Amino acid sequence: MPNESGFAPRGLRADVVESALAGLIAAPKTLPAKLFYDAEGCRLFYRITNLPEYYLTRTETALLRSLGGTLLPDGLHDAALVEFGGSDETKARFLLDLRASSGEPVFDTYVSIDVAETALTDLRQRLAVSHPYLMTVPIAADFMAPLRLPPLTGDRLGFFPGSTIGNLDPGAAVDFLGAARESLGPNSWFLLGADLRKSPAILLPAYNDAEGVTAAFNLNLLRRLNREAGADFDLRCFRHQAIWNAEAGRIEMHLVSACDQTAQVAGHTIMFAEGESIHTENSYKFTPRMISDIAAAAGWELRSVWTDPANYFGVFLLRHG
Ligand code: TRP
Repeated sequence: MPNESGFAPRGLRADVVESALAGLIAAPKTLPAKLFYDAEGCRLFYRITNLPEYYLTRTETALLRSLGGTLLPDGLHDAALVEFGGSDETKARFLLDLRASSGEPVFDTYVSIDVAETALTDLRQRLAVSHPYLMTVPIAADFMAPLRLPPLTGDRLGFFPGSTIGNLDPGAAVDFLGAARESLGPNSWFLLGADLRKSPAILLPAYNDAEGVTAAFNLNLLRRLNREAGADFDLRCFRHQAIWNAEAGRIEMHLVSACDQTAQVAGHTIMFAEGESIHTENSYKFTPRMISDIAAAAGWELRSVWTDPANYFGVFLLRHG
């Protein structure tokens, strides 16, 4: 078995090899974003969320903190919070700490679905200490894959913060929200955090910080493939690039080859021309109208929208009747 420390003898992971090769053989080349989040990737992403240029996390966190109980529909009780991509419970805590008028916590169950298995173990341990009454159910899975939730009897609130919705193409965003609606079931609620359209002068530095943490995060994908997919990428010959694609309304992350070169991946030779890129991630930016349309296409009704005073970020409450 491969292990997280990367010391397994030739610890190749078949799923990593397969998903990486599929993207590297394609034209243009891509790599799936879920591969970002190995142990080192999680650490680097955590650093991104604290960077001065990365306004998303602090803006969304301030919104969640200041809105408190006003975020929740009236009368929610004995409820389950189901977080998609929740490798870190920091934002969920603002909801888990809320109490109903009876004084009881609103949520008695927290389901967290994420690919980062070790992060889920840590999260469960922290919550066992701070919220001993809470039933925490970690599910180590890609939240995009079909999913069966444990039976949830009370109210249900889906939670998808961090503008992770923006990492999906619009069609996939509708598919995801539709699948989440089905797994949450009738009479459920969904709280979605989405980054809003704004000047590229603000957007671009958030994905290309002065300290180079985002560059290291992007390049860590290749380091992971060297370890887990039997690859031999020379990290010095690729550079991080973030661009604003105005037509598609998204930031794009690329790894650009600095020269003509070849790399081996699990016995396959991949050729790169100088300037050729591997497209590693998109981050779509939304208007409230776009979120309302995507939600409606997935069978959700938009009930409330909150934004910060600068209109950088939006929190959206959806309802499935
Ligand atoms: N959901 C985050 C976002 O779109 C993910 C992210 C932030 C990210 N910085 C990144 C993904 C850099 C890839 C590369 O903002």
